Amino acid sequence: MNTIIAKAGVDDDRMYEQAAEILKRGGLVAFPTETVYGLGGDALNPDASHRIYAAKGRPSDNPLIVHIAETSSVYELAETVSDDTKKLMEAFWPGPLTIILNKKEVVPHTTTGGLDTVAIRMPSHPVAMRLIKDSGVYIAAPSANLSGRPSPTTAQHVQQDMDGRIDMIIDGGAVGIGIESTIVDMTGDRPTILRPGYITPEMIRDIVGDVTIDPAITGMNNALRPKAPGMKYTHYAPKGELSIVEGDRLAAAEKIRSLVAEKKAQGYKTAILCDTDNVSLYDDGVCENVYDAGSKKNEITVSAGLYSLLRTCDDIGAQYIYSESFEEGDMGYAIMNRLIKAAGHRIISC
Ligand code: TXA
Ligand code: MG
Repeated sequence: MNTIIAKAGVDDDRMYEQAAEILKRGGLVAFPTETVYGLGGDALNPDASHRIYAAKGRPSDNPLIVHIAETSSVYELAETVSDDTKKLMEAFWPGPLTIILNKKEVVPHTTTGGLDTVAIRMPSHPVAMRLIKDSGVYIAAPSANLSGRPSPTTAQHVQQDMDGRIDMIIDGGAVGIGIESTIVDMTGDRPTILRPGYITPEMIRDIVGDVTIDPAITGMNNALRPKAPGMKYTHYAPKGELSIVEGDRLAAAEKIRSLVAEKKAQGYKTAILCDTDNVSLYDDGVCENVYDAGSKKNEITVSAGLYSLLRTCDDIGAQYIYSESFEEGDMGYAIMNRLIKAAGHRIISC
């Protein structure tokens, strides 16, 4: 298959028309959202969801998020919309919050991975918005990466994974947030966060009072089964062995320097992911591939570049990767959730 690559902002009317045609006939279009790039298909067409699973190499029991452009669409897709749900929609849509609700008949089980619930999100990215509106279809879209690769935050990442596998990629530049939306399940007694993201538990608590966090995603307990099926897969794993080194700033840097020295002496290629403020701590003539992963003081600089750095580590063939911890602050929890998974829970404390 020849994948069309189109730049947003060049010949938009034609581009959206072409993308809409593809979606309406069951084809696949990758597009930017404010979180990560999505791989879109018609959410109400089972053939389209089969194509999405095939293109990603993703297990079909992992449900897709349905993207909408108008609040009224929720009532066509979901059975019961509580007052709390309405408050969340009002507070955070359009934006990086996905809400799980009981699905209506029209939503095929192929889209929901066999579940009777549906994940719905209204993205705020103008390209995503216009694509949904112009095509007139609800767009089912997982992140546009091959299963097991980091989510794409640029059109080039999408191209690396999806060229020849899908009909079209819309290039809208680098995304702003860089990690996937917060998922909140509104089908139970209390709102439950199934995946942390830019919208923090505190922000949700401010709107609806009580909120719980799925215990399967909070800690190190691998025995619990997450309610969001996608959270159970080993995601985002770089090819090299990634370890997180946590502890006091200087002690952690010293530990990383000694680990790098040891691995280099054994002939391995290494890489380091560190805070902007700490780059100079690795200026010892031994450390190589030291990447500025953004600043904890401004967490969006960390989230925005995280997946891209993990891809870079693969590109350069890093065999051992050491990352500092980025656990402080509001989004630190979501960032560490992704980083810990990428590291396969390898954490070195010092
Ligand atoms: O930011 C995002 O959410 C991006 C952009 C493209 O919108 N999408 C994204 O999709 O991250 P994906 O497929 O990579 O992740 C969807 C997650 C998976 O963990 C899946 O298991 C969960 O949402 N999910 C979807 N529907 C669900 C449902 N009905 N119940 C529980 N979890 C669900
Ligand atoms: Mg994904």
